[in-house]
Amino acid sequence: MYNIKNTEISDLNAVFGIESSLFSQGWSINQLQDEITNSGSVFKVLILNGIVIGYYIINAAIDTCEIYKIAVADDYQKCGYGSILLEDIYRETANMSVARIYLEVAETNIKAVNFYIKNGFRKIHVRKNYYGNESAYIMEKYIQ
Ligand SMILES: CC(C)(COP(=O)(O)OP(=O)(O)OC[C@H]1O[C@@H](n2cnc3c(N)ncnc32)[C@H](O)[C@@H]1OP(=O)(O)O)[C@@H](O)C(=O)NCCC(=O)NCCS
Repeated sequence: MYNIKNTEISDLNAVFGIESSLFSQGWSINQLQDEITNSGSVFKVLILNGIVIGYYIINAAIDTCEIYKIAVADDYQKCGYGSILLEDIYRETANMSVARIYLEVAETNIKAVNFYIKNGFRKIHVRKNYYGNESAYIMEKYIQ
């Protein structure tokens, strides 16, 4: 069974392990830790059988929410857990009067781009050379 809960300091090593395995220039443990106490952010972990297998960080301002991070450990991808995290983001944003969710994603990150499109996000802008010499898509979704 899985559950989703607010991230605690004791979860950070596991989150950092996933973050470092998925992103060559991922966030540091200090950056992650700051999001636990950032009042505009929600930082949650997905726990399966006692193990952290995914997480998300969102940051909301007025009626807009940015997805800073959404990640599922490599061995658990393509099993629906990313979508489960996204559903939890919708639940959180429903409590915040958020109308629009957006994010930036490297255009070469096909997995994530497909994932967002499958979940109703659309590309609205290309930011040239956002990640060094890689460009990024800005993607958004309007919610109720
Ligand atoms: C993006 C991510 C969170 C999706 O998580 P997930 O648990 O695999 O997602 P789900 O199982 O709920 O959804 C699967 C869908 O995602 C997309 N997807 C996932 N893995 C994919 C792959 N290897 N190739 C192509 N599309 C893929 C597809 O649209 C897939 O739908 P399909 O099975 O019908 O083809 C996950 O791939 C991940 O953690 N990636 C690394 C971190 C990252 O890049 N985060 C986003 C940064 S903006």
